[in-house]
Amino acid sequence: MSTAKLIYEGKEYEFPVVEGSEGEKGLVIGDLRAKTGLITLDPGYGNTGSCQSSICFIDGEKGILRYRGYPIEQVAERGRFTEVCYLLIYGKRPSVDELRAFREKMNRHTLLHEDMKKFYEGYPPGAHPMAIMAAMVASLSSFYPETPETLDTNIVRILAKSKTLAAFAYKKSVGQPMVYPHNSLSWPANFLRMMFAVPAEDYEVNPVLEEALNLLLILHADHEQNCSTSTMRMVGSSEANLFASISAAICGLWGPLHGGANQSVIEMLEAIIADGGDYKRFIDRVKSGESHIRLMGFGHRVYKNFDPRAKLLKQTCDRVFAKLGINDPLLELAKNIEEHALRDEYFVKRKLYPNVDFYSGIIYRAMGIPTEMFTVMFTLGRLPGWIAHWMEQRRDKESRIHRPRQIYTGETIREFEDRGTKQLPTGR
Ligand code: SDX
Repeated sequence: MSTAKLIYEGKEYEFPVVEGSEGEKGLVIGDLRAKTGLITLDPGYGNTGSCQSSICFIDGEKGILRYRGYPIEQVAERGRFTEVCYLLIYGKRPSVDELRAFREKMNRHTLLHEDMKKFYEGYPPGAHPMAIMAAMVASLSSFYPETPETLDTNIVRILAKSKTLAAFAYKKSVGQPMVYPHNSLSWPANFLRMMFAVPAEDYEVNPVLEEALNLLLILHADHEQNCSTSTMRMVGSSEANLFASISAAICGLWGPLHGGANQSVIEMLEAIIADGGDYKRFIDRVKSGESHIRLMGFGHRVYKNFDPRAKLLKQTCDRVFAKLGINDPLLELAKNIEEHALRDEYFVKRKLYPNVDFYSGIIYRAMGIPTEMFTVMFTLGRLPGWIAHWMEQRRDKESRIHRPRQIYTGETIREFEDRGTKQLPTGR
């Protein structure tokens, strides 16, 4: 193992350098403070590795994304979402029999406990479905407590119930009766039917939309140590149960800088159209730094070249729209913005490219999914990744509770003099 030297206050210290299977190198500083009295300071953790992991590999410079070594382009084209769940969580591709058994296991858990339906009644009509998802997932731990014996089943339970939880949240928001899962359908088809079937009519899942949703779920399935997955690991490091950890990850994903961006992209495109469609003027406002507005769906902490998922999603938009014979002005606008930004020095200099959120919402719209549900769609896709990382950490005997340090910059010691506040009458 190679090493790196640090010279501090005239003394020389040596630290090992670990190398990953793809040649990534990390300075191992577990005993930095004990040896030198120093800690590192890296706000946003842009240069800090929290773990070693074998689940997902990203090369931001080359636009590479692989799940357990399989290139995302091949997984997206040839895989099924349930198969990718198995691959990410259990570390290997399932055989046909293993996949069949996994699906049958999931099909036994697609229903919610009937008492959970009462929770939905308490939400106001405009409740954001991410608030509902976070609460419902945490509540699953009241119905299915976690023990070493129940953990495997609870993993299957959340993978199976997540689509039902999400579809019920949608039905609640539109005031329609909830539609129960139909286990003869694929995961994506089951979800689309629970979302859009109404008792008064027959409902046939459109195979074009089923295929597009399968791809969207796969593309969102994992992405190494992003904000919500790191949240999943952070909460899991305290040995909180799986459902509580997922609920925290859902909240982390909700932010507009992360998974909430797919909703913000559509709102941004709709605002540009409502304002006359002059996207160049909007981009000038972004570049001016005016009120910190950003080109949502652009930029990434890791990808400093294209996000391979955005390329696949842009192709999917074209394919789905052609097959459905629809055209959405937002797609044209998004393509014009991408073309314009990729030639603009501001974006080129900062290596800002479309990310996974730039085109995903346009496809969700084509499916009839409302904008407020877009980050829930991201949640459904990212679930297997969150679970895989949580389990990888849970299995790691070296894993410890996450507890970063800080550099204190507040007041130094001072007297809290007695101002007689304790003698003040309480109340008004
Ligand atoms: C996801 O981590 C993951 O893997 C996430 C994800 C996943 O699969 O889990 O890929 C999913 O969250 C994708 C990102 C979705 N978010 C957005 O689309 C929101 C818009 N993008 C950003 O706000 C931003 O690009 C981030 C949050 C994605 C990345 O932020 P960083 O790495 O902290 O970069 P930064 O904010 O420090 O920006 C660096 C520079 C700044 O300019 P200067 O101060 O150098 O002049 O680039 C500028 C920023 O102002 N910049 C943008 C911009 N993103 C960065 N300027 C305009 N529009 C943008 N979108």
